[in-house]
Amino acid sequence: MNTPLHRRFPKSFTWGVATSAFQIEGAAREDGKGESIWDCFCTVPGAIADASNGDVACDHYHRLDEDLDLIASLGVSCYRFSIAWPRVQPDGGAGHGAWNAKGMDFYKRLVDGLHKRGIQAFATLNHWDLPQALQDQGGWAARDTVHRFVDYARHVNAQIGAGLAGLTTHNEPWVMAVLGHEQGSFAPGIKSRATCLQVAHHLLLSHGLAMKALRADGCKVPIGIVLNLAPSEPATDSAADAAAAHREDARSRRWYADPLFKGCYPQEVLDEVGADAPRIENGDMQAIAEPMDYLGVNYYMRSVVSASGQAFDAKARGLPVSDMGWEIYPRGLTDLLTLLHRDYPGMPPIYVTENGGAFKDANWQGGRVQDDDRLAFLRDHITAMADAMDHGVPMAGYMVWSLMDNFEWSSGYLKRFGIVHVDYATQARTLKASAEWYRDFLRDWRS
Ligand code: FCB
Repeated sequence: MNTPLHRRFPKSFTWGVATSAFQIEGAAREDGKGESIWDCFCTVPGAIADASNGDVACDHYHRLDEDLDLIASLGVSCYRFSIAWPRVQPDGGAGHGAWNAKGMDFYKRLVDGLHKRGIQAFATLNHWDLPQALQDQGGWAARDTVHRFVDYARHVNAQIGAGLAGLTTHNEPWVMAVLGHEQGSFAPGIKSRATCLQVAHHLLLSHGLAMKALRADGCKVPIGIVLNLAPSEPATDSAADAAAAHREDARSRRWYADPLFKGCYPQEVLDEVGADAPRIENGDMQAIAEPMDYLGVNYYMRSVVSASGQAFDAKARGLPVSDMGWEIYPRGLTDLLTLLHRDYPGMPPIYVTENGGAFKDANWQGGRVQDDDRLAFLRDHITAMADAMDHGVPMAGYMVWSLMDNFEWSSGYLKRFGIVHVDYATQARTLKASAEWYRDFLRDWRS
């Protein structure tokens, strides 16, 4: 007899839903908020598929209580959100660096509201919306931004640290570095490999230095970082494809995880990038490897690599894909988690901090979306995570991306990841079938 899925998780497990500030808050110029690089990037013609922006988004800034009730109605034990740095410090410290009490007040109300509802608060300091004033001075490519980030982290901890159950420094350094500074498809839209690698180094360095400073300040909150990771697999069994997959794994996974857990960059990548390698100062690698309390892993799909460099077209091969065109491959989550466990002995507990799927949500029944595709996606990935736990991987929690439909970066509002539907014309929120499934699953797990 198969064990029911909910029985495969201990009572200590943390279940949640996730969002990020720029994607849901709106109120882009209210109560003293400064401009972020994403506010700016959205004005670039062609940058956002539907030419939209984050000015209103889900209007979460004005609907905080309603949204907290919504989160509570799902029966989750935690909520992962991010803090908009330019809301809290409009110029990011590029100029006078003044703190914006009104902006901070929003996050105080958020954390208090979660507490009142018995939900743990997991805050992320940087989910991509760097103050534009800092970008104007070089952004993450400039070493000074590292120190500005440490100041910001300390301020947030002083203001709301006591109410947090988890504090993530950065969300997905790979995305900020590569999509933002090498491919230029995300803010700030730069296209330079050397800049990308310097940015990645500064993100990791600021993570380590912020963690150290917070602990020196007496911060007792568990601190970690969130990486987007995928197992890299060769497209065929040729030796060339195997080598290409190995290289891709070194560039996208080990470039981030090795410094954090082993204190060094993969030598083969340093050799490959030559003069584009980042400037590393004495003590940097030691600072980056400062032990952390948890690792957050965002998993969406595996990466299938061929030596020819040709992109793997899962759909053309008849494999299941989401509305992003991303292959649906739950087994990859088991593979990834066991790989991390094998490669980094003594690694801290892991949370899946994001996992979910974009689907068309065309199937309305009885006034709500019958999103069987998303429901199956979540169930199958939660199963894959349980399989990894059976292999001994120390998993601490899982958070669905996302609580509700929102601004999906360069895809604008065209892609829906929410387990709650948002009607952008009225801002009405409606639970989808996947949300009801998750709620019922959590009820069974608790009982
Ligand atoms: C991740 C981001 C998150 C969301 C999902 C779909 O890379 O962290 O904000 O956009 O992808």
